[in-house]
Amino acid sequence: MQKELRDVYYIDGVRTVFGKSRPNGIFANTRADDMVVKVIRSLLKRNPQIKPEMVEDNIWGATTQMGDQGLTLGRTTALLAGLPVSTPGCSVDRMCAGGMTAINNAISDIACNVADIIIAGGVEHMFHHPMGQGADPNPRFISEKLVDISALNMGMTAENIHDLYPHLTKEMADEYSVHCQKKAKAALDAGYLDDMIAPMTVWTPEGWKVAATDEQPRPEATLENMRDLRRPFRKGGRVTPGNSSGLNDGAAGCIIASAAKAEELGIKPKMRPIGYAYMGVKPELMGLGPIPATEKVLERAGMSIDDIDFIELNEAFAIQCLAFIEHFHLDGIEDKRLNQLGGAIAFGHPLASSGARLHMHLAKLFELHPEAKYGLSTMCVGLGMGGAVLWENVG
Ligand SMILES: CC(C)(COP(=O)(O)OP(=O)(O)OC[C@H]1O[C@@H](n2cnc3c(N)ncnc32)[C@H](O)[C@@H]1OP(=O)(O)O)[C@@H](O)C(=O)NCCC(=O)NCCS
Repeated sequence: MQKELRDVYYIDGVRTVFGKSRPNGIFANTRADDMVVKVIRSLLKRNPQIKPEMVEDNIWGATTQMGDQGLTLGRTTALLAGLPVSTPGCSVDRMCAGGMTAINNAISDIACNVADIIIAGGVEHMFHHPMGQGADPNPRFISEKLVDISALNMGMTAENIHDLYPHLTKEMADEYSVHCQKKAKAALDAGYLDDMIAPMTVWTPEGWKVAATDEQPRPEATLENMRDLRRPFRKGGRVTPGNSSGLNDGAAGCIIASAAKAEELGIKPKMRPIGYAYMGVKPELMGLGPIPATEKVLERAGMSIDDIDFIELNEAFAIQCLAFIEHFHLDGIEDKRLNQLGGAIAFGHPLASSGARLHMHLAKLFELHPEAKYGLSTMCVGLGMGGAVLWENVG
């Protein structure tokens, strides 16, 4: 009888490229579930020791669970990817942290001896499913002042953080974003992202194309060309298309396995989860969520931010990263621990898929820096939440 929690490993992660959510975006004519299938099949192809019948669950996060993201995506994509009918699947939703939650659920299942191998990740096709599609917020939220009305618009929550920290200016947010674009360009030029991406053949009005390059990075970004971008969320606001993550389409996932199974199959794991945490904050300040989530996961692990070699902080908006940097006394926007390979401001943020992308960047950094011991992936979540996962480098 299993009496203790088992050791769990992150084996491998892969994603589609991230497209722009617009009529001429690379994935405009591609189904979200087919993007998930691409990720599942790529994971199995890259890890031939893992046979389809060894996958014991298929857990996927998506924020808008309807249409091509509906019908219990974990089950539909297991069938579509050619996993045996005996492989179950499920879908989870924690908005932007949908993929992160799916992966954490897989970690816990395996630790509790529910399964040995699980595929988990997240997808969001924001062109097919614009944020808030089909949502019907209870009028009590507003009539009883349970949340400020700005809580329902993510860009407005970022403006609220600017209000709260007036010393963190638009210029600083723009500087942060230019630096992010530079880091992303350096990572792309060095080929560090090549093996994270599963190119996918897609139908476009110009015929079949291979989606092999992220559409959003702007290596040409400068403080000057960002200065006068429109302020879509508030007249005279500080949040612009340049210092926000974009509207994107993409899928990202990974294989999580028990240490025992990985050893039996002769698979070299990349990372070991140490713990994870979620925390709530005021919904109208949702971008602050990573701060208490990080504090909680560190506290429960008996660690401090100084123990962490690499931090993957999802960049929904630059201002929330500035607040995180200030809170944890990081070494400014150039802190070498933070988003070393660039973040969502460059690569995009297809909501539920981003948690899985953060883990991929961390795994790559661990590979590039074998001396690094610990890493953190953390992200903010709509309606005022944060998620954080602590990892150990075992690669
Ligand atoms: C900010 C936002 C409204 C911008 O919307 P958009 O329709 O994609 O962007 P816009 O058309 O207004 O602006 C894009 C244009 O700005 C300019 N631009 C954007 N970034 C730039 C930069 N760094 N440098 C120079 N120009 C830039 C370009 O001209 C660009 O057009 P292009 O993409 O065709 O080249 C949208 O990206 C958004 O809502 N982001 C936040 C998403 C979100 O809330 N996620 C959840 C977080 S919890």
